[in-house]
Amino acid sequence: RIAGPCSLIMFGVTGDLAKKKLIPAVYDLANRGLLPPGFALVGFARQDFGTESFAKVIKQAAKDGARTPWSETVWKQLAAGIRFVPGEFDDDAAWERLADTMAELDEQQGTGGNHAFYLSIPPGLFPVVVSQIKKHGLAESSQGWRRVVIEKPFGHDLASAEELNRIVADVFASESVFRIDHYLGKETVQNILAFRFANGMFEPIWNNHYVDHVQITMAEDIGIGSRAGYYDGIGAARDVIQNHLLQLMALIAMEEPVSFNASSLRLEKQKILANARPPARMDLHTAQAQYLAGWAGGEKVRGYLEEDGVPDGSRAETYAAIRVDVSTRRWAGVPFYLRTGKRLGRRVTEVAVIFKRAPHQPFSKNDIEELGQNALVMRIQPDEGVTLRFGAKVPGTTMEIRDVNMDFAYGGAFVESSPEAYERLILDVLLGDPPLFPQHEEVELAWKILDPVIDHWKSCTTIDSYPSGTWGPASADEMMARDGRTWRRP
Ligand code: BG6
Repeated sequence: RIAGPCSLIMFGVTGDLAKKKLIPAVYDLANRGLLPPGFALVGFARQDFGTESFAKVIKQAAKDGARTPWSETVWKQLAAGIRFVPGEFDDDAAWERLADTMAELDEQQGTGGNHAFYLSIPPGLFPVVVSQIKKHGLAESSQGWRRVVIEKPFGHDLASAEELNRIVADVFASESVFRIDHYLGKETVQNILAFRFANGMFEPIWNNHYVDHVQITMAEDIGIGSRAGYYDGIGAARDVIQNHLLQLMALIAMEEPVSFNASSLRLEKQKILANARPPARMDLHTAQAQYLAGWAGGEKVRGYLEEDGVPDGSRAETYAAIRVDVSTRRWAGVPFYLRTGKRLGRRVTEVAVIFKRAPHQPFSKNDIEELGQNALVMRIQPDEGVTLRFGAKVPGTTMEIRDVNMDFAYGGAFVESSPEAYERLILDVLLGDPPLFPQHEEVELAWKILDPVIDHWKSCTTIDSYPSGTWGPASADEMMARDGRTWRRP
């Protein structure tokens, strides 16, 4: 899978995401030999860079963030295709310069009219960029392809997402639109499908006869850093549950797609999202909170309200937990609990499928030292793998039972290294391979689940809190306790 001749035109190229993830991913792809020889990378931004000073910025970002070793030879080849177009997004002259640059690249680099526009910009800027692409005739070409890549957030609620989708659909056909949810680019997330559908032994128990409930956790130990401007207007649920966690839920809950192509996969995910219900009682089955001062990595850290750029009295949640029910024959009666938070005990993302208890225990209570429910835990990160937790006899002369773990670890089982999520996704864009990109229907269905929760939170007069370095607010534990359950401690 090597991309054919093409260019990637980046908007927001001086932003955080581009520097930390996108540029290093492009370098790593080049280093792994997955980009074509004439590949071109174009930056379009307000800054007053020449192509040379722009290339320096790219080089630094690539060096800082690359996962593969540094190679001057690879860099030189990449650098030959780097261009910079200065200008404001609403400046027609700048867009003409971009059009000239694209035509030049087709000649000099052999990109053959194949160009992908990568929008790593705030959604407020989408309309101007997309309409300029149209106005300057760049959305189509008589030779080659044109694609657009959109970074989240895809709106801030259902109405704004629909509006964004309308704007994009007016210019690009749906097969040319690639919406990035970088969780879908993670190896361990794709492995959910392999695990479920390449094997025969899990699917028979993957339903409400055997599964008690599912817990999906995305915990981070970091705070919001310098992202107050973005984060404060958004909060944890919109930042992460709307996209990453609901996508994980869809992959765990969906029926087997007839094949691993984009339309079959999306269809099955959509059925789950369309049948997923937000809690009937928001007050009982959701929790939201903000981190207080506390500890992270052995150091004292400040609370959310003391972070730079956070307005006084902000009510943005940095922790969110919700219960979602999926009304299908397979999942009726099996709650999915989704939680995420910043400044929690440690960084971990996992999906835990918790099974019902054995219907009968021949062992006496005294024999059972420590017995929870059987659990199958898909460890998404950082310690990638799968854990099966079950009861086993403790060695000795009595029949004592204790819970143990059986582990599969990526590091131990494979010598191949995992590409970073963005490497996989950028390569798929250049190849025009859509299965890992959510379509607008999925995005809108996810907002339908979340909008009522956020409306409820807006109507609350207070927000709960939790000290940094802990596992979230008491209200989240109470939410589980009402259902007679507890959160796993990953
Ligand atoms: C992003 C969120 O989508 O995912 C961030 O906007 C979050 O707030 C990040 O920190 C986490 O990604 P990862 O890959 O480190 O789990």
